[in-house]
Amino acid sequence: MLNKIRNSIFLAITIFGSSLFAQTTISVDATKGEHVINRNIYGHFAEHLGRCIYDGIYVGEENNAIPNTDGVRNDIIDALIELKVPVLRWPGGCFADTYHWMDGIGPKEGRPTMINNWWGGVTEDNSFGTHDFLNLCERIGAEPYLAGNVGSGEVKELSDWVKYVNHDGVSPMSDLRKANGREKPWKVKYWGVGNEMWGCGGNMTPEFYANLFRQYSTFMTDWSNSDKLFRIASGANVDDYHWTEVLMRDIPKHLIEGVALHSYSFVEWNDKGSASEFSEGQYFSTMQTALKMEELVTKHSAIMDKYDPKKRIALIVDEWGGWYDVEDGTNPGFLYQQNTMRDAMIAGVSLNIFNNHADRVRMANLAQTVNVLQAVILTEGEKMILTPTYHVLKMYNVHQDATLIPLSFESPKYQFDGKELPAVSASASKDESGAIHISLVNIDSKNSQKISLDLPGVKGKEVAATILKSDKLQDFNSFEKSEKIYPESFKSVKLKGETISLELPPFSVAVLEVQ
Ligand code: AHR
Repeated sequence: MLNKIRNSIFLAITIFGSSLFAQTTISVDATKGEHVINRNIYGHFAEHLGRCIYDGIYVGEENNAIPNTDGVRNDIIDALIELKVPVLRWPGGCFADTYHWMDGIGPKEGRPTMINNWWGGVTEDNSFGTHDFLNLCERIGAEPYLAGNVGSGEVKELSDWVKYVNHDGVSPMSDLRKANGREKPWKVKYWGVGNEMWGCGGNMTPEFYANLFRQYSTFMTDWSNSDKLFRIASGANVDDYHWTEVLMRDIPKHLIEGVALHSYSFVEWNDKGSASEFSEGQYFSTMQTALKMEELVTKHSAIMDKYDPKKRIALIVDEWGGWYDVEDGTNPGFLYQQNTMRDAMIAGVSLNIFNNHADRVRMANLAQTVNVLQAVILTEGEKMILTPTYHVLKMYNVHQDATLIPLSFESPKYQFDGKELPAVSASASKDESGAIHISLVNIDSKNSQKISLDLPGVKGKEVAATILKSDKLQDFNSFEKSEKIYPESFKSVKLKGETISLELPPFSVAVLEVQ
């Protein structure tokens, strides 16, 4: 009889895999911290695309229905301040290599128009330009990251942009800025030298682009040399390791501070499916692409290590996030999609990956801030909602500028249709006050995970935790039910001696604080 029971337990473990019964033990040794998690890993990206800028962030100075400051929605300003956005990339994306910044300065009525041929073919009236963007960054306390036009622009154009926004003395560009109402320069540090140069930025070879980069980068100065610029090369598309290799090999180290990488999460690139009506198979595939970020960052970093063993040059993941079909009835070029618990899972695991690679990844920018792709904010007329992704980023912002605590553990598997993925993802850090934060994600759609965290030296301390969960993976916040998914206190977390134990529900994200 005893044998029968033993056998059936064994059978149950075998059938359901490790996730049903196993306990994941994670050791969190706060004395092991070495690298700081750069706050810019929690960066964002806002492009002139669909309703991100126009009818999103910017509703116009004349708008009386929606409270705004210089045309920028006040509710969005408040939400972005709350989120602690450290850095904001603008004006694209593909749009950047069609953008001529001089069209967006001076009196708004006199600005030329252009056609936004990448995104819906709509007319861009240039009413949101350099001053509007940089003032917005000042208001929300974010560093601006300007993406320059290399594809259809000129060296002088980008060089002048640097001088216009950064030069403090007397010069044609600083005089022009002053004439346009801004006395003091903004001192912009982060500069992209083109975007996706292998594609929409000009379909270049890496060798050709590396040479162009050398030229552009040489002339990017405001003459003062007081603030060194951080120049970011347009990086690889996903796993194009050759691209990274050539840039690292051919660009002299004194001309470059960062190399970018773009990678999105999706079901299949040519069959993305709905953002909010998806099957478990589609969820699994999306998580496969999201988790591939670990391999991408590891392999691109290894190439960078060959040429830059001291890790002076940063890997900048300046576009990431989920990409699905647009919502019914919306412009296919506007990339407007809903945001569900699937997106919360993408955000949670991606941010854990970036944190854990803090030695090389020093900035990441989620695409995109408002109404486009994996947005943190959606708007509809006067209404504004925060997505599950917003909540994950806000829960995780405790990691900004904290010291990474390296973790190593064996994750149970999330199994589907004969395939498997690691179910649990985690990262941890210690902040200046000594508080330890641990972010945990369980991507398993059905099974909860028993987790035990060993923290040497935390005896007698207190633990508090927040969790984001919902009944269905497909759940989202709508304009009618804007707080359906909202972080709540995670009460069942127990601290006993030096061990914290908890059970993480299916498809949930939790952040623990040990004081
Ligand atoms: O984020 C949307 C687009 O995706 C960007 O414009 C481009 O850089 C990328 O292909």
